[in-house]
Amino acid sequence: MRGLRGKRVLIAGGSSGIGEATARRFLEEGARVHLGGLNPDEVAAAVDRLRHYGEVSATAADVSDEAGVQRLLQQAQEALGGIDALANNAGTAWREGFLDITPAHWDAMMAVNLRGMFLVAQAVARVLVAQGTGGSIVNMSSINGMAGEAEYTHYNASKAGILMLTRTMAVELGVHRIRVNALCPGYIETPLNAQISASLGEDFVAAYARDKIPLRRTGQPDEVAATYAFLASDDASFITGTEIVVDGGQLTAM
Ligand SMILES: NC(=O)c1ccc[n+]([C@@H]2O[C@H](COP(=O)([O-])OP(=O)(O)OC[C@H]3O[C@@H](n4cnc5c(N)ncnc54)[C@H](O)[C@@H]3O)[C@@H](O)[C@H]2O)c1
Repeated sequence: MRGLRGKRVLIAGGSSGIGEATARRFLEEGARVHLGGLNPDEVAAAVDRLRHYGEVSATAADVSDEAGVQRLLQQAQEALGGIDALANNAGTAWREGFLDITPAHWDAMMAVNLRGMFLVAQAVARVLVAQGTGGSIVNMSSINGMAGEAEYTHYNASKAGILMLTRTMAVELGVHRIRVNALCPGYIETPLNAQISASLGEDFVAAYARDKIPLRRTGQPDEVAATYAFLASDDASFITGTEIVVDGGQLTAM
């Protein structure tokens, strides 16, 4: 992809699953990467695996916490000397019927998935505006932000909110040459999904792929990482305010 060599890329939620694959892809493209993650041991282990691919540094911090986000941004800028692109990827999910969701559980989901996304996006946008360089921000939504999967009301609502966060940011920040887009993956095989699917029985994933996904398979983290890289690259130079769906056709099937 064009224009990624030497780019300074922050990947929030870069220590596992889609985020780690995204860090690897940016490093393979010649970019420099600073990644964030919640758990310090997980972050350290990811950095150890990624070092082989290029220059990578990291911060363990909670994106729902303002001080944590400040620390993430400060260490990213110190390590990279500025920021050109953000993969705003941190997120969580769990199954819970609508009638059972407590206000505390609702708040916990929103704190990470929507408040965290906002805090990181705003902090990076402020850096990009101050630099005067333009840049790219990609916020992680989901096809769950576009259609309502049962037992995920709070997750779905958080991911739908990210779509409007993304569109409005694009409208306001275009004047600063900052492009803002969202990613909407379907079922991707990651530690997060493995944990959820384990509670649904051995055959769940195979049946899900067969019955719901036109390509008849689930997706791999690398397939989402490639789209993050595309949206941050010069090949996407006129793309802003929109979302790209990476779901094997799931959203379009009846
Ligand atoms: N796996 C899928 O099928 C799928 C589909 C659509 C969207 N997504 C989204 O992709 C993103 C990555 O998911 P994944 O499946 O790779 O999950 P994962 O659990 O493997 O990785 C999640 C990442 O987010 C970080 N994170 C979680 N909570 C955090 C917090 N409070 N503060 C800082 N970092 C935090 C983790 O440390 C980790 O790096 C999430 O936003 C998720 O909603 C995943």
